[in-house]
Amino acid sequence: MSDSAELIIEGKSYKLPVVVGTENERAIDISSLRAQTSYITLDSGYKNTGATKSAITFLDGEEGILRYRGYPIEQLAEKSSFIEVAYLLIYGKLPTTNELADFDKQIKEQLSIPEGVQKILSGFPTTAHPMGVLSALISSLTAFYPESLNPNQPKDEVNNNIVRLIGQITTIAAAIHNHSSGSVSSAPNSNIDYCANFMSMMFGGNNSEYEVSPVVVDALNKLLILHADHEQNCSTSTVRLVGSSNASLYTSISGGVNALWGPLHGGANQEVIEMLEAIKADGGNSKKWIEKAKDKNDPFRLMGFGHRVYKNFDPRAKIIKAACDNILSNLGIKDQALDIAKELEEAALTDPYFVDRKLYPNVDFYSGIIYKALGIPNEMFTVMFAIGRLPGWIAQWKELHEQKEPIGRPRQIYTGENERDYVAIDAR
Ligand code: SDX
Repeated sequence: MSDSAELIIEGKSYKLPVVVGTENERAIDISSLRAQTSYITLDSGYKNTGATKSAITFLDGEEGILRYRGYPIEQLAEKSSFIEVAYLLIYGKLPTTNELADFDKQIKEQLSIPEGVQKILSGFPTTAHPMGVLSALISSLTAFYPESLNPNQPKDEVNNNIVRLIGQITTIAAAIHNHSSGSVSSAPNSNIDYCANFMSMMFGGNNSEYEVSPVVVDALNKLLILHADHEQNCSTSTVRLVGSSNASLYTSISGGVNALWGPLHGGANQEVIEMLEAIKADGGNSKKWIEKAKDKNDPFRLMGFGHRVYKNFDPRAKIIKAACDNILSNLGIKDQALDIAKELEEAALTDPYFVDRKLYPNVDFYSGIIYKALGIPNEMFTVMFAIGRLPGWIAQWKELHEQKEPIGRPRQIYTGENERDYVAIDAR
């Protein structure tokens, strides 16, 4: 295999180094291209462009493979916990018993949010979408922890910012939910599991005896693990780009929340459940909606289907789909939305439109059905995605700085007007 690529431009030959990753992925390093040739590359949506080298997550879109630090997500979803996976992603290894206990303890010491954050939240209308409030409140943490603005913080202070955010995001999310639903948030309880505490803060109200079923805790751990990282997706690339300017962890993560909110990205999980509910309300005719999704003149898309990288089944969707049946039956819930989702999947997977374009269910297709079964409102689904993705965003932000990467600043090809003189308004 050659260690360089040859480019011939206007008869002149240029050599560009080839980079090979640990899973034999290959890239042409074009960092010297413009200096050598005055040319840049153009790749709308970065479909063919690697932004960085990373040791955090490996995925193979053709084979439907996803691993965090080399561990297959199927094993992590089955055997690990969300907090253990967060440690793995952020620090690069599975923790020992003591390391995990210490990490868990540090997070639990940081569950309470500043009174001022509650005051800012109270100023939002109860109808505000939770994702807009979440990004605002995460960004507001820089006001309460101004030391987090220092790009040269010592390692232990950076670590403090990390565990604080992992702890506080659940309390902030529960407070947002209770603000919009007009109910009371239970105080954080550091004596129970991270996921159990989140559900207790969400739904426990003033009931100090509120119990969270182990089925719910297990389902939530699994869902958060499956969302924890996904290499250079839109929101993670946003976190890295914002972080590359030496912006603080909190403002970088807030940028990631905003990118995730988009319906083409993490916002799809809310769109999927609303789509399934619309199909149910329309008599459950999934064939009609499949035709709408194929119609180029119809803006409707089959939400939860298709993926920039997976041209095979999204391995997370497979696990979530299997968990759906199990969780709904354990909770004694019958949800027609699941039946409709399965019908859509079966219809799409035999329809040439979807088969030819390699459109398969993605992580968002079934996750909303489980969130709904756990009692989480539709508008909070993407907040759940953000809670799950937070360790991945943090790990990627941390890696960016460890690798001392330069500020991100893409080039462009200008297609506007050539030089022209200013014209006085009365002569226009
Ligand atoms: C996430 O990148 C990540 O890793 C993201 C994520 C993560 O963990 O971070 O995995 C999370 O964002 C999952 C994706 C959630 N989004 C949705 O479910 C929204 C619905 N999906 C589509 O909008 C779309 O599939 C994207 C945005 C996911 C991918 O878009 P691409 O890669 O830019 O592909 P495309 O839009 O160019 O589509 C190619 C073709 C087009 O048809 P043609 O022009 O070739 O005729 O497929 C069609 C599209 O119209 N198509 C769909 C479709 N998705 C693509 N047609 C109908 N329904 C769909 N869902």
